[in-house]
Amino acid sequence: MDSVTAAGRPLFDRLDEQKPDALLQLIALCDADPRADKIDVGVGVYRDAAGGTPILRAVKEAERRLWQRQETKAYLGSQGDPRFTALIREIVFGERLAADDRIVGLQTPGGCGALRLGADLVEKANPHARIHVGQPTWPNHAPLIECAGIEMVPYPYYDSEKRAILFDRMADALEGAAAGDLVLLHGCCHNPTGADLSPDQWREVADIVARRGLIPYVDIAYQGLGNGLEADAAGTRLVVEAASQALIAQSCDKNFGVYRERVGNLFVKAASKATADKAFANLMQLARTMWSMPPDHGAAICRIVLDTPELRADWHVELEEMCARIRVLRARLAAYDPRLAYIDGQNGMFSILPLTPEQVLALREEKGIYMAASGRFNVVGLSDDNVDRFAAAVVEKMDG
Ligand code: LMR
Repeated sequence: MDSVTAAGRPLFDRLDEQKPDALLQLIALCDADPRADKIDVGVGVYRDAAGGTPILRAVKEAERRLWQRQETKAYLGSQGDPRFTALIREIVFGERLAADDRIVGLQTPGGCGALRLGADLVEKANPHARIHVGQPTWPNHAPLIECAGIEMVPYPYYDSEKRAILFDRMADALEGAAAGDLVLLHGCCHNPTGADLSPDQWREVADIVARRGLIPYVDIAYQGLGNGLEADAAGTRLVVEAASQALIAQSCDKNFGVYRERVGNLFVKAASKATADKAFANLMQLARTMWSMPPDHGAAICRIVLDTPELRADWHVELEEMCARIRVLRARLAAYDPRLAYIDGQNGMFSILPLTPEQVLALREEKGIYMAASGRFNVVGLSDDNVDRFAAAVVEKMDG
């Protein structure tokens, strides 16, 4: 068959060149670095004191039980495993809000799948929808949202020089948003800054959202890794309760440590139960055209953990251990130099250093320190042995 199209150019020659994803490329760059003392604080995976990312005990045991007891691999359907989604629903929303029948949900391939599915639903409902996105944000937010054809409007969120949330400017921007506009919010453990809204600020955002008729789109990918499962969900619950419509993209990748299994959910709150049911039917149809059905293995593991009291209790212990380790590392960095003190007040895996891309590159080349060009680093990529060396190298660069 002729591989040349009617227009004379081979089909794939017409594609634009693409740069590899910068964050994922860091994994390969670091792997290829032979230096034994290299420090990988790039992509967001939890590392223990020995520098490994072990499978959680509860997850390993659930996986063993799944392997022994699972009797079929027959299809589950586009919604995935409804029991899994119901269990996560309570963790995200709490018992009372989880009972709201205007909220529907389904399993997705990780938080990315949820974000993309939600964006597609919004575009389908309103091709002119706009979403306000805080700056900076996780680098994959823009591609996921733009892919669905939704217009993005930036709002100021954080100043890395001042190491502070620009709350007044954020609030002003949201006050100026049009009714029906969406607002992307990080539920907890803001990625890339680690700077979360305070409870009072969440209340103010909830008030603006309700008053202005805005639609929160909450990305909650790190629940339990900031200040515990309940505290980390408090802001999300406030805005979802206040708004008549909302989307919530959830991920289990980090809090269950099942990264490569791709486990998440999308929840949608609609103005009425009937509309929520219609949204669910549309989500099912959109999912069918993208991945047909989400992969089951990771979700089945999480379901078994949550449905088995002793495994669930052990998961809580392990999650608290991960959280505590992050807090210890944050405190160590903050104690090293007053210019790093702000890191202790932030949450989750990431903080952002006031470094230029050139300084970040120099740290990589001179010291084997791998972090994102934005200055974002994964706090828990550090170990007890290298945290001071990391801090010294960073402070030296900040001194110029
Ligand atoms: C990160 O931000 O490092 C993680 O969420 C991994 C990813 O997919 O970018």
